[in-house]
Amino acid sequence: MPKVSTVSQPDTRRPTEQLAPHIRPATIPDVPEIHEMLEVYASQGALLPRPMSDLYRHLRDFFVAELEGKIAVCGALEIFTENLGEVRSLVVTENFKGRGLGHLLVKRIVTEARTIGLSRLMALTYAPGFFHKLGFRTVSKGFLPEKVWGVCVKCYKFNNCDETAVLLELNRED
Ligand SMILES: CC(C)(COP(=O)(O)OP(=O)(O)OC[C@H]1O[C@@H](n2cnc3c(N)ncnc32)[C@H](O)[C@@H]1OP(=O)(O)O)[C@@H](O)C(=O)NCCC(=O)NCCS
Repeated sequence: MPKVSTVSQPDTRRPTEQLAPHIRPATIPDVPEIHEMLEVYASQGALLPRPMSDLYRHLRDFFVAELEGKIAVCGALEIFTENLGEVRSLVVTENFKGRGLGHLLVKRIVTEARTIGLSRLMALTYAPGFFHKLGFRTVSKGFLPEKVWGVCVKCYKFNNCDETAVLLELNRED
């Protein structure tokens, strides 16, 4: 009979492989939790606050993944025009940061954006370095008039927006 080793081997898989979260479309019961997650960062000025009514209206933009029975990451794909979408409301809960969940969720959004035929995906962010690792490049906000004049113009930060605009061209393979 083969011996079974009792010495446990170190787990050499990457953190996301160990966590193996399943990314799924958000559902109505997720909304209060998503709202709470966004509020944490909104209160620190890291994200724009979004009322619950807005989240319900845009629910079908959202993807989430749960770990330990709670949503660990959420993020949304919002469509502006026939050739521009935005990664919005991307948040990883504090205790799961740095384990690849943010990366995984943006990759899911990129796949979705490609599937539906979008050619460009943008984000306004305080974490441009995170997006650069996913192939986005920093662009001038003037490069995104659909966003600036369609949405940003209504934002209280319009005249002193300090977020960085990043853009991914979805038709390019590099
Ligand atoms: C930014 C955020 C989504 C990143 O999620 P995360 O799960 O912690 O990041 P990941 O573990 O997937 O990181 C992927 C890579 O990006 C890097 N990275 C993570 N956060 C970064 C940041 N703020 N700036 C630069 N690089 C960052 C990681 O080091 C990692 O690099 P590696 O692949 O070389 O190891 C998360 O920290 C968060 O929720 N921040 C607060 C809200 C926010 O700023 N959201 C973005 C709004 S658009």
